[in-house]
Amino acid sequence: MSYSKRWHKVLALLTILLVLAACGSEAATTAPATSAPATGGDATAAPATASGKLEVFSWWTTGGEAAGLAALTDIFKTTDPNVEFVNSAVAGGAGSDAKAVLKTRMLGGDPPDLFQVHMGHELIDTWVVPGQMEPLDDLYTSEGWDKSFPQGVLDIVSHDGHYWSVPANIHRANVLWYNKKVFTDNGLTAPATFAEFFTVAEALQAKGITPLALGDSGSWAAGHLFETVLLGTLGAEAYEGLWTGTTPWTDPKVTEALENFKKMLTFVNTDHGALSWDQANDLVIQGKAGMTIMGDWVDADNLAKKFTDSGAVASPGTAGIYDALSDTFGIPKGAKNPDAARAFLKLVGSQQGQDAFNPVKGSIPARIDAGQGNYTEYLKSAMAEWKTATIVPSVVHGAAAKEGWATAYIDAVAGFVANQDVAKTQSQFQQACVDAGICK
Ligand code: GAL
Repeated sequence: MSYSKRWHKVLALLTILLVLAACGSEAATTAPATSAPATGGDATAAPATASGKLEVFSWWTTGGEAAGLAALTDIFKTTDPNVEFVNSAVAGGAGSDAKAVLKTRMLGGDPPDLFQVHMGHELIDTWVVPGQMEPLDDLYTSEGWDKSFPQGVLDIVSHDGHYWSVPANIHRANVLWYNKKVFTDNGLTAPATFAEFFTVAEALQAKGITPLALGDSGSWAAGHLFETVLLGTLGAEAYEGLWTGTTPWTDPKVTEALENFKKMLTFVNTDHGALSWDQANDLVIQGKAGMTIMGDWVDADNLAKKFTDSGAVASPGTAGIYDALSDTFGIPKGAKNPDAARAFLKLVGSQQGQDAFNPVKGSIPARIDAGQGNYTEYLKSAMAEWKTATIVPSVVHGAAAKEGWATAYIDAVAGFVANQDVAKTQSQFQQACVDAGICK
């Protein structure tokens, strides 16, 4: 099956979810025709040279995140020298703090000119369906993006016949990162299964090395780790079924996933609740911990910190599966400088922009024709794997479920980290699925 067909097939499920989530509105989620005119906002193509202030809102503040943004702004300064770039990034992994700030600003009638938003439910349910975004059909037409992005991507950034955001990248959530020297010194090989993971973890613990670094000061990080455990325990199809309603949350495999997670938690650093994801990665870099399970923005964190002794494999049980998410940018209604915003989006969606941004952001380009440039070995292997992997949507990073459900899921996992109560947590998951309108 071809690259774009595979994207299309797997991500069509997301489209179904979006339609379900939009239930009550008559809008269908379909890709717009190439020539669909933009309506409801400034549909004029940006002038060649925009000017004024451009405020871009994101949560990219760590080493690799900031480097990615800087790679874009460095080019933007040369293409649009009359625009003053205002970086309004709010720190906190996965947008844990930024999203709340953004909501307050949007509600208060003070939107930025552009903001970072995950492709999928986060974009459509949170912002598009309530009518908060500007359509971008003019850009998709003028830049030929309907041919440069895979059909599955085009489907997910579309709603009601219009395009709503521009994807910068594709990230993979299910990666186990390890310190190669620690592994070599202790005669260990990277684990592929949960059984191997626990054997390695015991060996590291016996040597006084923290087996698994976790930094869940933002509780999303525990939700992220458990997402990979669900995927590794249930497999791709049943994991996806949790979000579409075909796999019940009462399934014994969910119980098994919680048991696996509970055992994993016995191998994490005791100060995990005080650390961020990148501080957890520092433990691996310093050799104080052997492994961490986190998205491939760790590759960019390692690059920014000049750490070259890192190994990466799929998290336990997930070989051949890509737990995917994508950072996109969109223009909110009421943006003060939509011309400059459009000029920046042109860069984000261009081959030049994607090949400047992604090598230092730890992600692969969303464009079919990008992928040339200074990509790390990890990213080269990720680009190859992306073409053959089974793709599933990440819940913690906005792709698999609408925001309320994703938040209820993260809260239940955070509760589990504290209470370790398998039965209680499983019934909370079930309830959250009912509340989301997917389970009965
Ligand atoms: C994700 C985002 C990534 C990275 C990560 C850690 O949600 O998509 O780009 O920034 O959070 O903050």
